[in-house]
Amino acid sequence: MQIIDGKSIAEQIKQEIAAEVAARISRGEKRPHLAAILVGHDGGSETYVANKVKACEVCGFTSTLIRYESDVTEQELLQRIDELNRNDDVDGFIVQLPLPKHINEQHIIEAIDFRKDVDGFHPINVGRMSIGLPCFVSATPNGIMELLKRYNIETSGKKCVVLGRSNIVGKPMATLMMQKQIPGDATVTVCHSHSKNLVEECRNADIIIAAMGQPNFVKADMVKEGAVVIDVGTTRVPDATRKSGFKLTGDVKFDEVAPKCSFITPVPGGVGPMTICSLMMNTLKAASHIF
Ligand code: GUN
Repeated sequence: MQIIDGKSIAEQIKQEIAAEVAARISRGEKRPHLAAILVGHDGGSETYVANKVKACEVCGFTSTLIRYESDVTEQELLQRIDELNRNDDVDGFIVQLPLPKHINEQHIIEAIDFRKDVDGFHPINVGRMSIGLPCFVSATPNGIMELLKRYNIETSGKKCVVLGRSNIVGKPMATLMMQKQIPGDATVTVCHSHSKNLVEECRNADIIIAAMGQPNFVKADMVKEGAVVIDVGTTRVPDATRKSGFKLTGDVKFDEVAPKCSFITPVPGGVGPMTICSLMMNTLKAASHIF
């Protein structure tokens, strides 16, 4: 059994990006520039965005943080997005979600020029991904594909079960795993809250990607000997023994499942660290003008 070390792979990729940026700068090319819009003062969003800014520093990117109070209007945000779309110095940008209730998130996402949509949320990027065109893939599925690649995990012809059908993880994950490419070329089944035979599907799977957000849902008796298990869950479960007051808990009961696996991602330290790293990879791609 091998534990997939997302933390060290993410560090390694950021160093590779930094080296690429240094090479570009020495050739007189532009420094990649990521902008982030943060609305309000939600603790989780503040932390995520601060970590994104920190990762930009490690990678040698320019970063711009644009803050608004939570009473900002949709119109004001749309106008700022329009400016960022037309600003040639900004290669890519994100609007941190969730947004206050009075703002329609879909309007915001669709206002972003898909060539700068480094979150990969715009319908054009989702559509391009589904037919295998160059695009930006959302952070979590992108990070998982990178882990599979770097650990040389065989996916071709394998039976892959994706648990969860969210727009930003489950659906794109299923699309990428069935894509005519490596990693990919898998036979994919998507299970969700209405699936009748979920346990049976899991037992037959060579690869399980658990992304339904239910702590410790995947138990040892649901996993085949030698399976690859990727845990996307990051639920904060209350834990009084910790300073933070919670324990980050995955969708997989790690202690009992791990001994049966050929590869498994831990929580924390597996998929999580790869997500910000994916955003950095997408920003470098945006600065390379792939479209
Ligand atoms: N909120 C939680 N995850 C994300 C993400 O990947 N991108 C954005 N923009 N907001 C988020």
